Amino acid sequence: MSENNNKKDLLKDLIDKRSKALKGGGEKRIESQKNKGKLTARERLSLFFDNGKYEELDIFVQHQSKDLGLDKNVYDGDSVVTGYGLVNGKPTFSYAQDFTVLGGSLSLVAGKKIAKVMDLASKNGAPIVGFNDSGGARIQEGVDSLAGYGEVFVRNTLYSGVVPQISVIVGPSAGGAVYSPAITDFIFMVKDIGQMYITGPDVVKSVTGEEISHQDLGGSEAHSSKSGVAHFVYDSEEECMNGIKRLLSFIPQNNLENAEKKDFSENTTNEELRNIIPEKSTEAYDVKDVINKVIDNEDFLEVHANFAQNIVVGFGRIRGGSVGIVANQPASLAGMLDINASDKAARFVRFCDAYNIPIITFVDVPGFMPGVNQEHQGIIRHGAKLIYAYAEATVPKISVILRKAYGGAYIVMNSKELRSDLNLAWPTAEIAVMGPEGAVNVISRKEISESKDPEATKNKLIEEYKDKFSSPFLAASRGYIDDVIDPAETRNKIANSLEIFSKKFLDNPPKKHGNIPL
Ligand code: HXC
Repeated sequence: MSENNNKKDLLKDLIDKRSKALKGGGEKRIESQKNKGKLTARERLSLFFDNGKYEELDIFVQHQSKDLGLDKNVYDGDSVVTGYGLVNGKPTFSYAQDFTVLGGSLSLVAGKKIAKVMDLASKNGAPIVGFNDSGGARIQEGVDSLAGYGEVFVRNTLYSGVVPQISVIVGPSAGGAVYSPAITDFIFMVKDIGQMYITGPDVVKSVTGEEISHQDLGGSEAHSSKSGVAHFVYDSEEECMNGIKRLLSFIPQNNLENAEKKDFSENTTNEELRNIIPEKSTEAYDVKDVINKVIDNEDFLEVHANFAQNIVVGFGRIRGGSVGIVANQPASLAGMLDINASDKAARFVRFCDAYNIPIITFVDVPGFMPGVNQEHQGIIRHGAKLIYAYAEATVPKISVILRKAYGGAYIVMNSKELRSDLNLAWPTAEIAVMGPEGAVNVISRKEISESKDPEATKNKLIEEYKDKFSSPFLAASRGYIDDVIDPAETRNKIANSLEIFSKKFLDNPPKKHGNIPL
């Protein structure tokens, strides 16, 4: 055979090998994947990367296990597809578990493939996005597959705060498969197909006797509204891809960069902001109306929209620059801070701080939520996280007190003493140790009970208390509030200040790491 023919054969052999490898677990398994309403791993990556183009890695990697029939179940690439390309025009690294290969179960080599692409993401300062569709640790491999998880978990941890990490749950994520996503910054789930649980319904039934479906146990509804494990839920994989790309547009490539600035249309004053706070201080309103009127183009990407709705967190832009927004929500539980709200906001604040995103806080909080359940579940421990997160954050921090700012919750929500850069208040702000009624009941109990007309005395004392404390001017006279502003000027004031604070430099004392109350 001539040298040329030899080369031709090699090329043909390569083409054949690649085309076989690209079929993953084979046609039948692909069909079964489709019947479950799921895309294949490679379809997912094609949909994710710009123009469907990405460079695949480790296409010929095979597991080396022999036990329990694995020697007869060897597939090129094993159970995960890894690669890199551009997303929104920027370098991005990704992996997609291939359920057609042994149920996407994680082998040692699959763990090593994911570790390799994560290392590349970190070295190149780019986000890593993982599509999860897996039955967990490959049972036949025993301890090897557990080591595979270890390779991934350690990188999730070391690269946390270095490059953004996003997990997408597009199939089962069972057993060990849940913990890599849980360490990452954001979890997306697709309705119906996405499931996450440590132990499936069978194990739950055998241990606790409870009968529950896969979806009810760990579907998108459970994790987006009850457990708070999932940050975003989408109806379809296609919509989910757009959601991921939208999130990526608000955040930088890594911890040394800033998010890309976008075009914006200027609107310096907005008089509608004057009419949002209701006449009665006990009446609810939707704080998202305030957020949307302050940010560019009402373009707010809410994070954790269905979980702990008494606090709203998410990304927006002001004059084109990304900001993280934290806002008490009077329309839910009167905006009280509870365990879940504290966890939700603390984690968001820390993400923003890690990735150089200024934090804007809108305050309307009557306090921490009272109750035996909250106390016994550890509201002290959880509320402390939010104080810690705000106090530790060194990015520009601005807050606007819209209405109530009572007691401990006033201090927690980015008060001056937690190193906030600018504290503004609307004229409707009420800054006090506690609400008027509660305060009068404590400090004037004797005077009320001994008076001829206790009800009238109490009302008079409440009015006196309100006159004294239920305004921003006492706090402003002591410098706790930097300015009391016309609500219409809110965007203008924040935008001007963010421009000035853009070079803010603040370092925390040197240490290995702090000890946030977990
Ligand atoms: C090996 C697995 C597997 C696994 C699924 N498969 N999970 N093989 N290890 N962990 C195989 C199945 O045997 C099957 O092969 C194929 O993948 C497709 O699975 P099906 O069950 O047919 O799919 P489906 O009906 O969609 O159900 C998916 C599923 C179910 C709900 C995920 O497979 C399941 O319950 N798997 C086990 C989940 C689990 O308990 N994982 C925990 C592992 S221990 P065939 O050839 O029959 O089609 C763990 C601990 C790690 O993860 C801790 C680290 C910290």
